[in-house]
Amino acid sequence: MKFPILAYGHPNLRKVAKDITPDYPDLQQLIDDMFEAMYESNGVGLAAPQIDQSIRLFVIDAEPFAELDESMTETQKAQLKGQKVFINAQILEESGKEWAFTEGCLSIPGINEDVTRQEKIKIKYLDRDFNEHIEEIDGLLARVIQHEYDHLDGILFTDHLSSFKKRLLKRKLENISKGKVNVDYRMKFPKNNNK
Ligand code: NI
Repeated sequence: MKFPILAYGHPNLRKVAKDITPDYPDLQQLIDDMFEAMYESNGVGLAAPQIDQSIRLFVIDAEPFAELDESMTETQKAQLKGQKVFINAQILEESGKEWAFTEGCLSIPGINEDVTRQEKIKIKYLDRDFNEHIEEIDGLLARVIQHEYDHLDGILFTDHLSSFKKRLLKRKLENISKGKVNVDYRMKFPKNNNK
């Protein structure tokens, strides 16, 4: 794994990332490296800010989620499979009911909490060849996209939790930012944190 994953508390996870152009250096290699890092850490999505690249790029392969929910339609299952690359994505619209799903994040190992989001999105993005797509997506794929998209704006799933939940998690989150966490992939922890 070429790039360590930034841990909760790292200031660069909070930056608002910038759009890129097709001449962005070594972009195809970077995308491949992101998929590699994602698979090695058993993630279903990874956003560039998590590997300390402040650009509007995220990758998703949510195949493990395809077997998760019996009520899923075949179309929804098929949508989850395969490598997807989102460059300069813009969520144009969110609609539908709010629903809760237990989320996790490679930057926040060991914490999984229910997050409420709207069920449907309309998204405009460029794929890895810079072809433009406008799609309406719902279900778990929409969920994963919403989570990864948040990373581009410096938002983490824990930000969506109630203040009560946040207080309960405070110590655990502090421990992650201090590197006091068991994790089987490479991470980069914030420097100069006060013990
Ligand atoms: Ni995440």
